[in-house]
Amino acid sequence: MDQAQLKSIQWFPGHMAKTRRAIKSNLPLVDAVVEIIDARVPVSSQNPEMSGMISGKPRMIVLNKCDMADDRATAKWIDYFRKSGVPAVAVDCKTGKGLKSFMPVLQKELLKELLAKRASKGMTGQPVRVMIVGIPNVGKSSFINKMSGSKKAKVEDRPGVTRVKQWVKIGDGAEMLDMPGVLWPKFDDQEAAQRLAFTGAIKDEIIDTETLSMLLLRYLADNYPAMLTARYKFEPDSEDTGKILLEKLGKKRGMLISGGEIDTERAAITVLDEFRAGKIGRITLEMPPHKQEEDINEDAGN
Ligand code: G4P
Repeated sequence: MDQAQLKSIQWFPGHMAKTRRAIKSNLPLVDAVVEIIDARVPVSSQNPEMSGMISGKPRMIVLNKCDMADDRATAKWIDYFRKSGVPAVAVDCKTGKGLKSFMPVLQKELLKELLAKRASKGMTGQPVRVMIVGIPNVGKSSFINKMSGSKKAKVEDRPGVTRVKQWVKIGDGAEMLDMPGVLWPKFDDQEAAQRLAFTGAIKDEIIDTETLSMLLLRYLADNYPAMLTARYKFEPDSEDTGKILLEKLGKKRGMLISGGEIDTERAAITVLDEFRAGKIGRITLEMPPHKQEEDINEDAGN
């Protein structure tokens, strides 16, 4: 894996400071923070500074885009987060699948104690309030729109939370801030950046398309070989380098340039596009660690 080819991803320090400040100033207004992550890359799509920024507020995870992820892996991730003390649900904000499970988990698990305390004081009418946060493109606007039943314009990809606070109803007894906190991804972790680039969350310019496609093909050959065979009609070999896999794919698809050479650039674009469109299959790029002690997500414990 040639890390040198991965250029650094731009997210200005000023933006980060602004986001931190915005989240901090909005935190007193909410009872919980809901972090939306991508079910295909649950580690890489988390923000590296989450727990520090929300300083002890109850936190819940929504694994979005589960329609594109491997169901078995998603189930393992939910179990993993829950065992780490963070309630998690899997949803698909395109169709709305799984969204019904959000409110029960928020009210009956995450904020159970708070609601019991309020009930004991006779404060049953007060809605719980949540802030939605997540990296760009993870599905924050889709989640807000689906939960609130409204069709708002796309949330701008700008850091922080808007100053004009509007609360939208998301079911009985709950409201959320209608503008989410746009967080920065784990751009200083090269492998995380690569996985985000596979999904299209990070622009292709950070790494050359052919290199990216070769890395993806090698991962698929190791973890989802049957899907590669079904889609591209070739058998990946455990010895094949990413380059060989890319050539096999290009050959099968008849992607040739003059002289009979394989057009690897076209093959690379094809595999990345088809992966991002979910055409290769439902694939997860990161699995939870086997042992709970190997806590990949130091934030998760709160
Ligand atoms: P953001 O606010 O966090 O930046 O994300 P946004 O909701 O705009 O979603 C980013 C892209 O991800 C959108 O696609 C959206 O449709 C898609 N998306 C959101 N949730 C899901 C999901 O659960 N499953 C799938 N498969 N896709 C999801 P787009 O190509 O930018 O726009 P469009 O396809 O909606 O036109």
